[in-house]
Amino acid sequence: MKKIVSLVGARSQFVKEAVVGAEVRRRNAWRHVLVHSGQHYDANMSDLFFTELEMKQPDHFLGIGSGSYVHQTADVLVKFEALLLQEKPDAVLVYGDTNTTVAGALAAAKLKIPVAHVEAGIRQQLKDMPEEINRVLVDHLSAQLFCCSDLAARNLANEGITNGVTVPGDVMYDLYIKMHRRFTPEETRTRFGVEKDVYIVATIHRDFNTDDPSTLQVILDGLDRAHRETGLDILLPLHPRSRKRIAEFGLDGRTRNLRLVDPICYLDLLSLAQHCAAVITDSGGYQKEAYYAGKRAVVLMLDTGWRELVEAGWNLLCTPDAEQIAQTITTALEDTPRPENLFGDGSAGNHIVDLIIGISS
Ligand code: UD1
Repeated sequence: MKKIVSLVGARSQFVKEAVVGAEVRRRNAWRHVLVHSGQHYDANMSDLFFTELEMKQPDHFLGIGSGSYVHQTADVLVKFEALLLQEKPDAVLVYGDTNTTVAGALAAAKLKIPVAHVEAGIRQQLKDMPEEINRVLVDHLSAQLFCCSDLAARNLANEGITNGVTVPGDVMYDLYIKMHRRFTPEETRTRFGVEKDVYIVATIHRDFNTDDPSTLQVILDGLDRAHRETGLDILLPLHPRSRKRIAEFGLDGRTRNLRLVDPICYLDLLSLAQHCAAVITDSGGYQKEAYYAGKRAVVLMLDTGWRELVEAGWNLLCTPDAEQIAQTITTALEDTPRPENLFGDGSAGNHIVDLIIGISS
């Protein structure tokens, strides 16, 4: 039986590993060694996901914690190499585009261990975002590249990557379908004190939105303005970095009309998506999950890797400008036809396991 090491570290990876790991265990497909880098470490950024998504506990914890992007990447690289030398796996599975992902792929490739990348081929026009740098590098290091959509496969072909590329679909859609019966929209929104259809869920965590005082201020002002113009409550679960920056930049006064809460778990976030009027976010995952929940998202980015949703007219890109934020939220409240089946049929995890063990699907 093959031995495969899966590497995770951040919230956006736990949700993907939850699907693939469950499928591996259900089929006893290979010896599944789960490694947590420690990039996210607060209970509500990490442990909570393992519990509510019923994930296997990590076999190894690298404990890297926070630091500059370079430091974080270097730390995973060194610690993960030592672990691979000890575990000697047949392959390494990495997810998404975080610093953990790129370090894991590079360590494995240097040791000539084949890398399999879940969520390959995501590209955007802006090339200097840390996640975009990570995506390009990981894809060029990978032997198996699992894409969420045909667009992602075309992006890879444009860079000359065609070997090992398949389109099993989005594992986050699998998770959405699997967890749907556990969503509790009414109970959750009542607990958060908001009414059906009259609130927006907002999430902000990207460094380019949080780390510059004037940008963060403009975003908070835009949310405030949207609240005053539409009458909708703005529920803002705050990533620890955003909370720190708001305090550091003295912006607490700008959040008076917003409902700030601590980071929330998968089930709460997805339950809130069911009854909200719209979403405003800079999260890659949540802009897609809003679509799965039938809600439009205002994407607080100049460009996104999830272009399908923007080109279909469903999600709306928005620059950090208070007036534009308020206006774009108003547009997102309008009805528009929902594009169908953009990211597979909810069986991506099954296909990925088939492909890794060599069953062509
Ligand atoms: C990372 C990923 C991003 C992904 C997100 C998922 C990179 C470059 N970015 O962004 O692609 O969308 O995870 O959520 O890898 N912090 C805490 N406690 C924690 C974790 C973080 O306080 O448990 C604070 C620290 O101050 C840290 C900051 O948040 O420096 C940023 O965390 P980091 O993991 O570097 O990046 P994310 O913004 O979470």
